[in-house]
Amino acid sequence: MKIALLGFGVVGRGVYDLTKDREDISVSKVLCLEDVTLPDAEVTRNFRDIVEDETIDTVVECMGGLHPAFDFVREAVLAGKNIVTSNKALVASFYDELLPLVKEKGVLFRCTAAVGGGIGWLSELERSRRAQKILSVGGIMNGTCNYILDSMTRLGLGYDEALKQAQSLGYAEAKPATDVEGIDTWHKIILSANIAFGVSLEKETVPVSGIDKIAACDVEQFTAHGYVCKLLSRAEQGENGIRAFVQPTLVKQGSLEAAVPLNFNLITFTGAASDRMSFYGQGAGRYPTAYNVVQDLVDVLAGRGFYAPYGGKTEARNDGKLTYYVRGAAWPEEETAECWGQGVITKKVSVEKMHAWRKDHPDAFIAALAE
Ligand code: HSE
Repeated sequence: MKIALLGFGVVGRGVYDLTKDREDISVSKVLCLEDVTLPDAEVTRNFRDIVEDETIDTVVECMGGLHPAFDFVREAVLAGKNIVTSNKALVASFYDELLPLVKEKGVLFRCTAAVGGGIGWLSELERSRRAQKILSVGGIMNGTCNYILDSMTRLGLGYDEALKQAQSLGYAEAKPATDVEGIDTWHKIILSANIAFGVSLEKETVPVSGIDKIAACDVEQFTAHGYVCKLLSRAEQGENGIRAFVQPTLVKQGSLEAAVPLNFNLITFTGAASDRMSFYGQGAGRYPTAYNVVQDLVDVLAGRGFYAPYGGKTEARNDGKLTYYVRGAAWPEEETAECWGQGVITKKVSVEKMHAWRKDHPDAFIAALAE
């Protein structure tokens, strides 16, 4: 199989390295704006060289971002090429355009590396939904946030110091806001929910709150009360539709999530037959992510495309109520249950209402107490 790589950064170079000694997959062209010379592949700055090359049957998109990545993917599908991508923002944002187009053109599409990096999460989720109803998905999907929260909890570091360390270790995205404000996790839970439930979630109906306002004084309170803070995503089939959100969450010390160290991910589905199934591993990094791209290429070679039935645009409904820790802005006294240091514990409040309040109070830090 002759493939073209769109992008030659962390993931693209990883895919090149992992395939260079294989006989079944060979990188024939690479779209890259930098001066790179490769012994056995043509490097081009012009996408037309790829899309018009009939010997290339599969395009691997690992540029990141929405544009021009989506425009290139779309054109490649229209030209009859299979697609493998690691780009969660692209797939989560254009799911309802991409999936029908792929089906119409009869090409194969896979995106396992888009969520969980090296963890075979999406491919197992897709297999699982063939045999049972998926009730919920979610977990720790961002290594940078987990690294920061783990360093603050176990080593007592402040937020800025922990973020700097995560950046120097290369975990954070180019713009750390994508990680720490929860956007990366947001795309990942939307994509996971789409596959689990056969829908295309309206992005704007999935609220997200990140960890960028957490402070050492919050972590001290959580530890004193027997909790550990993690950035958790969740999507579940509720009575009134799909609930889906991303928010810092206080899990009990001793729980599986509380034990996840450093930049690891822990992602879980609950199925009607299987009950809880969790997947743990490296959610980022060159070779873990490239490994899942190669797995997808092998599946494409075997004629196995993606996956879930596509069910149309759906709005998430987040009227379920949770208890929250809030600090950094005045939470109404009549809706307060108790005080924790500089923060308060709220009475039960709907997820929707809390996130709307947080939008109006952007300096506040909120964390839900796990149910
Ligand atoms: N920056 C992400 C993380 C990896 O820290 O998990 C890519 O999604």
